[in-house]
Amino acid sequence: MMHTAGDALVRENSAKENYHRTMSLSRKDARIDSMNEILVLYYSRHGATAAMAQQIARGIENVAGFTARIRTVAEVSNHCEAIEDSIPDSGPPYAQADDLLDCAGLALGSPTRFGNMSAALKYFIDSTSPLWLQGALIGKPASVFTSTSSLHGGQETTLLSMMLPLLHHGMLLSGIPYTEADLLKTTSGGTPYGASHVAGADSRLPLSEEEMRLCQAQGERLANIAKAQLDAGLIRCR
Ligand SMILES: Cc1cc2nc3c(=O)[nH]c(=O)nc-3n(C[C@H](O)[C@H](O)[C@H](O)COP(=O)(O)O)c2cc1C
Repeated sequence: MMHTAGDALVRENSAKENYHRTMSLSRKDARIDSMNEILVLYYSRHGATAAMAQQIARGIENVAGFTARIRTVAEVSNHCEAIEDSIPDSGPPYAQADDLLDCAGLALGSPTRFGNMSAALKYFIDSTSPLWLQGALIGKPASVFTSTSSLHGGQETTLLSMMLPLLHHGMLLSGIPYTEADLLKTTSGGTPYGASHVAGADSRLPLSEEEMRLCQAQGERLANIAKAQLDAGLIRCR
């Protein structure tokens, strides 16, 4: 669909207003309060991974001095490369490389696609080689999360494969330790490799209590590790 520059500006401004209204702390507020940010970057088609991202953000914001910066990625197409506006019609803005530079850590989430991450998220990650060349993400903590339809549909393979590019970037991978009692209690999602959710065949199951708490624990742990890395002067944000 064609947009004039004016249409795009109006749409972008209204999407921005909506986004900042719904977030607990906007980017501008975060700067004023000298908050450190953790990037929660995900792709979600049906909303399950997006729901996990919200819980991970809650965990991050349980840590004093930290706020979550939530970003998503655009769809990719088999047929052509489409260029989207920087802000989608709904939900958080699309991620830019700068988000990775600004933030002290990363929670990366994707629905499972044939036991692997989604192409949309991988496409964004493949655009980060300039950051890899600079070593810009070395020492920043990272963790991963996923949603599947079925209980044994490849959560662990997806989570492990999502870690690979982050290791190439020199990020510090963190999972969820078994001191989180929910890891042993859950009958749906939740793994030591990262938070997960079983969304069911029609992708409509809500997060279970255990899945929700494990998302929050993962976010909190990530922010605590980022704090330690910042305090030790081992990482810096733009
Ligand atoms: C192309 C494709 C491949 C999928 N592969 C798997 C899979 O390997 N295992 C599984 O359990 N679910 C699979 N699913 C289902 C999604 O992972 C699941 O519906 C997920 O919860 C969707 O997350 P979302 O709501 O964030 O989009 C697949 C879905 C699609 C469209």
